[in-house]
Amino acid sequence: MKLSVSARAVAAGGMATALLLAGGAVADAASSAPSRAAAAPDIPLAGVKAHLSQLQSIATANGGNRAHGRPGYKASLDYLKAKLDAAGYTTTVQQFTASGRTGYNLIADWPGGDPNQVVMAGSHLDSVSSGPGINDNGSGSAAVLETALAVSRAQYKPAKHLRFAWWGAEEIGLVGSRHYVNRLATGDRSRISAYLNFDMVGSPNPGYFVYDDDPAIEKTFKDYFGGLGVPTEIETEGDGRSDHAPFKSAGVPVGGLFTGASRAKTAAQAAKWGGTAGQAFDRCYHSSCDTTANIDDTALNRNSDAVAHAVWELSE
Ligand code: TRP
Ligand code: ZN
Repeated sequence: MKLSVSARAVAAGGMATALLLAGGAVADAASSAPSRAAAAPDIPLAGVKAHLSQLQSIATANGGNRAHGRPGYKASLDYLKAKLDAAGYTTTVQQFTASGRTGYNLIADWPGGDPNQVVMAGSHLDSVSSGPGINDNGSGSAAVLETALAVSRAQYKPAKHLRFAWWGAEEIGLVGSRHYVNRLATGDRSRISAYLNFDMVGSPNPGYFVYDDDPAIEKTFKDYFGGLGVPTEIETEGDGRSDHAPFKSAGVPVGGLFTGASRAKTAAQAAKWGGTAGQAFDRCYHSSCDTTANIDDTALNRNSDAVAHAVWELSE
């Protein structure tokens, strides 16, 4: 149910109180008035894949990786920042030092919305030094970027404030996201109503894993996949192994999606999701073969749409 949304839409139609029923229920609005906020748009897979091609080119031109402290990391960040600036975002580059090298987080705020209710979606943008990191984590980075660009194309005006983030130095211990959370004022932490994390969402032998954290966020993702008829499982390959962990530790409601890393797909999982039993979800995890060839398009497409669905639904 989306009572607050319906109430808002009805109020916008100028007939608020008359349609409010006892107990907070809302009658069906007149056929001429929309009764709920617009649904999330379909995120174009071609757009997400175009970002992955760019990240691959950046790695290739910079010694084969996009790792913390290496030129491919900053070039990746510059690519995203230019897209977000052109789309009307207010971007901030947050610097930190880790392992003796400068690291960077990229934060993009969509103007408007309630500053006391901030919905964040984020992904780590760094790769390991051994490869280009296209599934880990070009995939999440590109899905979040394309969702942010879709917000701009739709000129979406949610009730809550939207903030997107790309973290540096995840691969050396969640450094960028921890730095961001540690720098938040206590009051600002409590203003974040949700942090959604996307780290590896296009694994070539994919599973559909939903983080088992905040129940409302988890339900939002499960409902989306349920609507597609795609079964999901709870993520168990390593809770605390990605950038949601510092947010969770700070008391922020978190959630996210994951298509699997080095763990092997079971026969039962292959039966429901397809793919190859007994083989890793991502055989190129943390290696030089994590290229644009290391992506399952169907998984990337579904997860990108799920990112947008959750961003829209949770910010209404
Ligand atoms: N964060 C890990 C990495 O980047 C990958 C990973 C392993 C992961 N287990 C996970 C990500 C569970 C999200 C959830 O190397
Ligand atoms: Zn990762």
